[in-house]
Amino acid sequence: MRTIEQVSAMQAWSHEVRGRARVALVPTMGALHAGHLSLVEIARRHADKVVASVFVNPTQFDRADDFARYPCDLERDGGLLATAGVDLLFAPQASDMYPVGAQTTVTVEQLAEPLCGAHRPGYFRGVATVVLKLFLAVRPHVAVFGEKDYQQLALIRRMVRDLHLEIDVVGAPIVREEDGLAMSSRNRHLDAAERAAATCLARALAVAEERVAAGERDAAALVAAATAELGREPRARIEYAAVVHPETLSPLARLCDRDSSAAAPASDVADRALLALAVWIGGTRLIDNRLLTVPAASRERRSA
Ligand code: PAJ
Repeated sequence: MRTIEQVSAMQAWSHEVRGRARVALVPTMGALHAGHLSLVEIARRHADKVVASVFVNPTQFDRADDFARYPCDLERDGGLLATAGVDLLFAPQASDMYPVGAQTTVTVEQLAEPLCGAHRPGYFRGVATVVLKLFLAVRPHVAVFGEKDYQQLALIRRMVRDLHLEIDVVGAPIVREEDGLAMSSRNRHLDAAERAAATCLARALAVAEERVAAGERDAAALVAAATAELGREPRARIEYAAVVHPETLSPLARLCDRDSSAAAPASDVADRALLALAVWIGGTRLIDNRLLTVPAASRERRSA
């Protein structure tokens, strides 16, 4: 596996390769785990050459202490990526990604406002800006992002459409530990008691999903069910728990049965909803989400 550190060298590689091979990019901030490696696996299915980037992007941290303690071990990450079959590791320096005096940023408007955007000012500007820079350095045909960061994925899809970037954005399912905790680079900050407590996010999502299967369609009731489950864990402090439209991310009032309306449903009603959570466990902020879908059985019952 080759490593490139300079943006100009990365662009030269791409210039040379992309005419004859389909190139995939997997952007990461390092501290790799099986979730990241699943993205590489998916990228390999979509392309001839897989580039992974490792760049801890300073502009997407709203707290200096979070940036300072973000785990960083390029040698370990490089080994994992090589074993996973990555062809090229792009590991730029911040001074190269952000030239002195840089003042150009990318803002995706509405999609950046709710959920994480409401609690982390400037976060998604930092994400969109660095992802566009990575796209322009690597010039991939396809890029893979995890559904774990659902809002990020939605925002990048929007940016790609808005800016005519000619990149296929592929979403990858959330990879979890055996007990349901979504894998995250931040999980390593949890001590043993916090690690046990952190399973409450997956439990809360499961409880809401069970309520949908049992016929609950009211978004507030689903949020209340998830919140009650989180409330059983004394170490959990909820930042947000919300049921939103899976594409617009705007609040939903109700789920509807899939065949319930011949006409288009109101904008706050949909047959699929995203339940999104951000929860602090001690000093560590965790996010998780699940797409809640009205079961097909309910449709069959209605048409019977
Ligand atoms: P990072 O948190 O390192 O995540 C890199 C990619 O891995 C993202 O697309 C994320 O959604 C995905 N990922 C993380 N945990 C996952 C899991 N448990 N299952 C599946 N995919 C998972 O997200 C970022 O970095 C940055 O914001 C970045 C896009 C690199 C821009 O700096």
